[in-house]
Amino acid sequence: MTDQTVHEDPSAHASGNAATDKFKGESVKADTTPERARAIYQDVFKAIGEITHKHQITYDEYRVLKNWMIQVGEYGEWPLWLDVFVEHEIEKVNYDRKGYTGTKGSIEGPYYVEDAPKLPWKCEMPMRDKDKAATPLIFKGQVTDVDGNGLSGATVELWHADEEGYYSQFAPGIPEWNLRGTIVTNENGEYEIKTLQPAPYQIPTDGPTGWFILSHDGHPWRPAHLHLRVKHPGYREITTQLYFEGGEWTENDVATAVKPELVLDPKKNDEGQNVVEYGFKLDKED
Ligand code: DHB
Ligand code: FE
Repeated sequence: MTDQTVHEDPSAHASGNAATDKFKGESVKADTTPERARAIYQDVFKAIGEITHKHQITYDEYRVLKNWMIQVGEYGEWPLWLDVFVEHEIEKVNYDRKGYTGTKGSIEGPYYVEDAPKLPWKCEMPMRDKDKAATPLIFKGQVTDVDGNGLSGATVELWHADEEGYYSQFAPGIPEWNLRGTIVTNENGEYEIKTLQPAPYQIPTDGPTGWFILSHDGHPWRPAHLHLRVKHPGYREITTQLYFEGGEWTENDVATAVKPELVLDPKKNDEGQNVVEYGFKLDKED
């Protein structure tokens, strides 16, 4: 751990605080019994004790940790830090259940927003002229049950960063629903969405999450990705992400959220657009 001076930079503050404000607006509740809470916290403190002894943690290091935790809160970066370094294990424990054969999930991350405007099955994502300068991506496929039957009226929520790595509603100056939409599948469960090829995303390095990464010579990159949430009544909802074959950082995601089943391999068509087909399989609700 290194010394941390307090940096004043508006961008980490802005996106961190926006993610924190959004999360604070959600209702947060778990039915954890006192017995279960005790079992968990005892294991947490046992692990902390073991690490402290194993690495002979110094008082200076302890104070740096305290300072860092205070800064994470002040910068509003707990959603960022937790979703990068912790969420992937939570996702695996909760959604990689034995017996599920549907599409794999991946982390939600801090930038999901509910109720993105509805779009027809064949559509273009809301985007600015500057977004149209990026390589177009045609993303098409079908939502089915695990036996391959199309699910009509399923919703495919898609959200992703622009070519500079910014998400609407979390970075300033971007129209509210830019690159966000709720696509409704047609009578066969199909969708065909025109969007843009996203770029790798660098998590903000100008705040405490960045200091954390620098302190151990890590890198702050997530591979280019699309975020998706797919729903149909009676079926288990999937929150996932799709990545790109051969993309920078696809093999080395700071958030450890890539799964081989979630990697796309788009091909160029005659118009220079990237085209890719991917289907979502939904398991029946338990
Ligand atoms: C973060 C950003 C993402 O776009 C994502 O998918 C996961 C995490 C983050 O900055 O924490
Ligand atoms: Fe993301």
